[in-house]
Amino acid sequence: MSYPWARRVGGMASSAIREILKITERPDIISFAGGLPAAELFPRTELTRAFALAAGDPLALQYGPTEGYGPLREYIAGVMGQKGVPLTAEEILIVSGSQQALDLVAKIFLDPGDPVATELPVYTGALQVFRSYEARLSALPGDGHGPDPGALERVLREQRPKLIYLAPTFNNPTGRTISAARRRELAALLEKYAVPLIEDDPYSDLRYSGNPVPPLKAHDAGGRVVYLGTFSKTVAPGLRLGWAAADKEIVAKLVLAKQGVDLHTGSLVQRALHRYLTWSDCAGHVAAVRREYASRRDAMIRAMQRMFPPGVTWMEPEGGMFLWVTLPAYLDAARLLPEAVAAKVAYVPGTAFFPDGGGANYMRLNFTNSSPPLIEEGVERLAGVLSRYCSG
Ligand SMILES: Cc1ncc(COP(=O)(O)O)c(C=O)c1O
Repeated sequence: MSYPWARRVGGMASSAIREILKITERPDIISFAGGLPAAELFPRTELTRAFALAAGDPLALQYGPTEGYGPLREYIAGVMGQKGVPLTAEEILIVSGSQQALDLVAKIFLDPGDPVATELPVYTGALQVFRSYEARLSALPGDGHGPDPGALERVLREQRPKLIYLAPTFNNPTGRTISAARRRELAALLEKYAVPLIEDDPYSDLRYSGNPVPPLKAHDAGGRVVYLGTFSKTVAPGLRLGWAAADKEIVAKLVLAKQGVDLHTGSLVQRALHRYLTWSDCAGHVAAVRREYASRRDAMIRAMQRMFPPGVTWMEPEGGMFLWVTLPAYLDAARLLPEAVAAKVAYVPGTAFFPDGGGANYMRLNFTNSSPPLIEEGVERLAGVLSRYCSG
């Protein structure tokens, strides 16, 4: 059929990861491909109770304000304060997952053709959003510690990006965290060039070792940083509940953008989550999740050390959900994937995170969604495939 699609539809490719996930839903495949939390750890009993109690209030079944449920915004303002970002509830917008906030931020800042600078490799969900607004993407050069401030300044001077996107803590896909010193330098540049930045932070509460690093927003004197948080990784992604923390002027525009999308995030889920957060031992729950994920990360690293062939290396992140593996330069992880799937193990090839090509000899492995014995088994299967191709 020929439909009169809008031009922006041309930029809407299906996420490579979602396509891979379809194959890996087969129960016989050990999937390190998705970014899924461990479903067996979801606080089901507490949430069942919280939803039942919340539903007793007719306001939980009524339309609500676009900004979000007041007490939940207050609670999140407190969470931000604990992270070193003191702000008020008026600076918080409740969103239907931080993915929605990415879309709303792009909607209020980007016209077709506007330049957007992102780290490289970059979260594919952010790419999808920027492409759908017909942005021109450019990469920020960096190293294992994140974007290089000198290189960022060059990009700011020469390309004048309208918006910058970073996931500074336990990055998806690499797991790397930008140091506090570098965060301060980056924040100073935002101020100098008056450019807004999205700080996408779904993973910082999943820290297994080392010391917390304050968000970039903690250094944001001029209100340039739009910080995105979520309950997807600490409570449950099916809630679809996250937040944007930003200057009030930005929040006001995001509210207008959100009104056109869904009027507001579900009243029931907001009230149930607030009840859960304030009545249950949420901190204890997150601590238990951290303990389990740390043991899964360590199990994967130990198995890789034992079984991966020489020439294959990886970063050891202090938190998050992923291990970023580097293969010898002559190997292409996308080409090896069918063989891995035949051996009943899956991963995401690095190319998915490089918008303009590149990244062929990387793979992203998720360690949170498989038990330690399955991790062992999956790494063994993968090592079998890699060993056939690594010349040592
Ligand atoms: C870097 C990054 N940003 C945003 C999201 C989306 O999270 P949410 O479930 O809050 O929409 C994800 C999910 O995997 C992610 O990895």
